[in-house]
Amino acid sequence: MKALITGITGFAGSHLAEYLLSLQVEVIGTVRNRSRMNHITHIEDKVRLLECELRDPFSVETLLTQEKPDYIFHLAAQSFVPTSWNSPADTIYNNVAGQLNIFETVRRYQLPTRIQIACSSEEYGHVEAHETPITEDNPLRPLSPYAVSKAAQDYLAYQYFKSYDIHTVRTRTFNHTGPRRGEQFVTSNFAKQIAEIEKGVRPPTVHVGNLQAQRDFTDVRDVVKAYWLALEKGEAGECYNIASGSCITIEQMLHMLLDMSHVSIDIVPDPARMRPSDVEILLGDTSRFEKQTGWKPQIPLEQTLHDLLQYWRER
Ligand code: GDD
Repeated sequence: MKALITGITGFAGSHLAEYLLSLQVEVIGTVRNRSRMNHITHIEDKVRLLECELRDPFSVETLLTQEKPDYIFHLAAQSFVPTSWNSPADTIYNNVAGQLNIFETVRRYQLPTRIQIACSSEEYGHVEAHETPITEDNPLRPLSPYAVSKAAQDYLAYQYFKSYDIHTVRTRTFNHTGPRRGEQFVTSNFAKQIAEIEKGVRPPTVHVGNLQAQRDFTDVRDVVKAYWLALEKGEAGECYNIASGSCITIEQMLHMLLDMSHVSIDIVPDPARMRPSDVEILLGDTSRFEKQTGWKPQIPLEQTLHDLLQYWRER
């Protein structure tokens, strides 16, 4: 069994690589530029990294026809919502073109590859109060260019399954975090600020954006198990929510982190951290995926945040 992970050097990609290795799966991964490699140096001798620019059809075709992976986990993306307002065209092109190049090679060479597409709960965007917990049948009302790019990826995966019978499975993952989370994302950003305050390299103030948003957080180590199950047991052409099934405000999450620290810290609103529009609430219903695969998240949020804070304390 050979699995290709696009985005292997990223946050979720590195955890997925570790998990697949523990299952004795052969792991290969795409890298765009070796100097940007960061999260997988500890397992670099156990995986094979292949230079590939996903936006380049020739590059993707060469890789897939040479390697013929059984499974593709397509995680590579521009994944930070605020960046998508600054670079909307790049976000959409990057996220859609790479996937199309994969699909087109699989289609033209009739590769029997199963493909997981990392879709997002951001696609649901504006959600009415009576629509929570959100099921896969909820309308998609995206509120950022990033969310539109993910909706496009989602629909393309559906369309390539319907049109060409390509084995695609869409995972609509809600917020996920844990060690190695990029510092621009809220959990990691707050944890890093707190760790720096503890070390005395930052004044005792944590800068924050919108604390009223509600998010459904799952540990990345549970999420990558879901990705594996999506291709092992998920139905081709289907989409599945991946979430914990409960949500908290960003303010509550911040206080959970602050409670793990011994230092006294002030909270300072930073207008630059506010977004043109923010998704108010994301709370996922995962019954479809649980019924299909038996998956259930195991790691409580307290543990996840503790591990994340520890990660930043040790850096
Ligand atoms: N990043 C950040 N920084 N967010 C903040 C801050 C801050 O200082 N203060 C408050 N927030 C709020 C944001 O406004 C948002 O409502 C929430 O915290 C979460 O922000 P992010 O961690 O940046 O994640 P996201 O919800 O926008 O998107 C993440 O989850 C999606 C799935 O729902 C990303 O991981 C996406 O790639 C993913 O698809």
